[in-house]
Amino acid sequence: MATIKDVAALAGISYTTVSHVLNKTRPVSEPVRLKVEAAIAELDYVPSAVARSLKARSTATIGLLVPNSVNPYFAELARGIEDACERNGYCVILCNSDDNPQKQRSYLRVLLEKRVDGLVVASVGEERDLLDSLASVRTPMVIVDRALDGVDADLVRVDHEQGAYLATRHLLDLGHVDIACINGPANTSVAKLRLAGFRRALREAGVGLRDGRVLDGDFTSLGGYEAAAQLLGRDRPTAIFAANDLMGIGVLRAAAERSISVPGELSVIGFDDIQMCPYVYPALTTVGQSIRELGEMAAALLLRRIVGSGSAALEQRIIAPKIVLRESTGPSPDLFSG
Ligand code: RIB
Repeated sequence: MATIKDVAALAGISYTTVSHVLNKTRPVSEPVRLKVEAAIAELDYVPSAVARSLKARSTATIGLLVPNSVNPYFAELARGIEDACERNGYCVILCNSDDNPQKQRSYLRVLLEKRVDGLVVASVGEERDLLDSLASVRTPMVIVDRALDGVDADLVRVDHEQGAYLATRHLLDLGHVDIACINGPANTSVAKLRLAGFRRALREAGVGLRDGRVLDGDFTSLGGYEAAAQLLGRDRPTAIFAANDLMGIGVLRAAAERSISVPGELSVIGFDDIQMCPYVYPALTTVGQSIRELGEMAAALLLRRIVGSGSAALEQRIIAPKIVLRESTGPSPDLFSG
C-alpha cells in the first residue's frame, strides 16, 4: 500500500507539504494541492488512520458494547447512537458480547487498546469482575439501559420499574387477576426493576400472585416460547407480561400452537416496542421506550463528555415509558364466564 512518502516523491513535493494538504493544517497553493491530489489518485493512497489519530490525539471512534446484537432492541439502540456519532464525525465500532461476560471483558480491552475516544456500554450483567473492569475505565463512558453499581459514568435508560408497572396496570384494568410474568435474566438490574414494577401493580390492586407465575427468561423469543409452554397448560393465567418483546413474540407462538386465542383467551404484553411489534399477529401491545432516541441521547451525552463541555457531575437520564396499545391484550375471559 502506498505511503505518504510515495505520494511526496511522485508529486515532487516535500513530505511535510503533503501532510499539510491531507490534514488541512496549513494553506498551500492550488498547483501544489493539485499535484498532491493527482499523486494520491495515481497511487490510490489511503491515509493511515493510526497516523492521523496519533497526530490529532483522537481516533474519532466510539466503542459500543451490547449484550446481544441480534436482539432488535440493541440494533435499534445502535442505530440511534450511530446516527448521532456520524453527524458529529465519529464512527462506531460495535462489539457483541453475546451475553457472555468474558467476551464483554475481552472486547472492552480491545476497544481501549484501539484508543476509542469514548464508550457506550450496555452490560451483559453485573458480576463483580465485570463491574471492576468497567469501574477502572478512564475513557469517557456512558452506560445505557442497565445501571451498574460502582461504575462512575453517565447513565441513560428507560424507567424499567414504571414500565413494568404500567404493563401490569393495563392488564389489571382489563379485569385480569391471574397474571404471569416471564422476566429477563435474573443477573440484570433490568429484570430486578421490571419484576418490582410488576409486583407493585399487583400489590396496589390487591391482586395476589400465584405460585409459579413468575419465570426467569433470557430476553429471546425461544426463551419466551419455552417459558410460555410451562404456563399454558390447563391451569393457565389469563394474561402474561413478557419483560421484552422478543419473549412476548415467543409467547404468541406458544399460544397459537395450543389454539389459545389472543387476546380472547389470553392477553400478552411485551416491553421495548421494537419495530416488528406491529407485524406479528396479533400485533403486540407493549411498553414503548423510544429506543433510537435513547441511543441518540446516550451518544450526545458521550460526545459532550469527550469534548469536555459536559457538566462535571455525572448525569442520569431516565426516560418515561408509555403503553403502546395494539391487538394482543383484551378483557379477561373471566369477566364473561358464569
Ligand atoms: O430486549 C432486550 C432488553 O434488554 C430490553 O428490554 C432492554 O431494556 C434491555 O435491557
